[in-house]
Amino acid sequence: MNYTICVTSAFGVEAATKRELERLGITGVRAENGKIVFQGTAATVAACNLYLRTANKVFVVLGTFSATSFDELFGGVYAIPFEDFIPVSASIPVTGKTARSDLFAYSACQSIIKKAICKRLMEKRRVLTLPETGARYGVEFFFYRNECMICLNTSGDGLHRRGYRTLVGEAPLKETLAAALLDFSVWNPQKTLVDPFCGSGTIAIEAARIACNIPAGMDREFDFTAWGEEFSSPLLQEKERAAAAINYSATPDIQGYDIEDSQILLARAHAKAAGVADKIHFQRRDMRALSSHAKYGVVVTNPPYGKRLAEGAEVISLMRDYGKVAQTLPTWSFYTITSFLDFERCFGKKAEKKRKLFNGNLECCYYQMPGPRPPQKPREENR
Ligand SMILES: C[S@@+](CC[C@H](N)C(=O)[O-])C[C@H]1O[C@@H](n2cnc3c(N)ncnc32)[C@H](O)[C@@H]1O
Repeated sequence: MNYTICVTSAFGVEAATKRELERLGITGVRAENGKIVFQGTAATVAACNLYLRTANKVFVVLGTFSATSFDELFGGVYAIPFEDFIPVSASIPVTGKTARSDLFAYSACQSIIKKAICKRLMEKRRVLTLPETGARYGVEFFFYRNECMICLNTSGDGLHRRGYRTLVGEAPLKETLAAALLDFSVWNPQKTLVDPFCGSGTIAIEAARIACNIPAGMDREFDFTAWGEEFSSPLLQEKERAAAAINYSATPDIQGYDIEDSQILLARAHAKAAGVADKIHFQRRDMRALSSHAKYGVVVTNPPYGKRLAEGAEVISLMRDYGKVAQTLPTWSFYTITSFLDFERCFGKKAEKKRKLFNGNLECCYYQMPGPRPPQKPREENR
């Protein structure tokens, strides 16, 4: 069966998600307001959930309509054939977002949508109650400029929950954002990667999983697998294919350092849970002691911001010292995400490109400073 699929990603990350979809063979799509919509099958749903590293969730779109009153909202939802998708035993949590719309009261929209779904299901299935004891069929609504899109959440929990991060570090990055930072950098598994402020190790772990070709969702559950054979069997097949393609013998050069012993312990525990313990060198080290023999390395990092972890003056001096360390590695590339507004001045260099991104609710900037390109290896002459 064909479905309209909607993949969501965080503000600023859409370009990375679009590239990932293209690598899955889903081309010609447009990213708008954090959503990418395209046609596919249950196998497409499985592949997107399993492989996408930068996306938030994968949805099946059930209907789209305009509404400026609660009556129109009720009518629009009630017209959707939920009985074709949702069994009578399903548990049906309703969540969503509303922005720039006449119907801006979230709780009212949520309860009207829920009522309309239940009325429709009970009438069409000829039952008087819905027990809501079965598999989860989460309904999400996206209201934007009075257009309402009603979707089924196939992922369940957000895709940043890979399953390997069990302990909580200080101000950790979401795994999906860490993967996007890597995608926006010049790093690839052939290049040295260093995170000198690694905290619980998210950037290094995501990089190691890319290097080993371990799919993002290999170790977690998804809601759609409880939706019957049509959805569960393509995931099993895709997982088998993916497992055969994992490169356990990859030898990437990935290093993570942090000044706190406790953070290094966390990072090591997470790397072990992520199956990449032997692919990353984690060590307690002050960023100021960073040095390397590698000529063309890449730093991708998320230093303390000053808001949450340290006082402003400390961050100013830390960022100045970070800039001095960068000067000792003039052929390296530096990619830094921070909400610290004076970063470029303290670091002592202008970014070639800046991207607005959000770390949780905190507006940040991703300062991209690629270094010089390594010389091309001479090709063997054709004789
Ligand atoms: C924002 S957190 C990084 C979080 C990390 N991206 C994660 O996902 O867990 C910044 C980290 O910088 C570390 N740090 C602070 N000063 C440092 C220094 N001088 N050298 C190395 N690490 C430092 C802190 O201990 C903290 O773990």
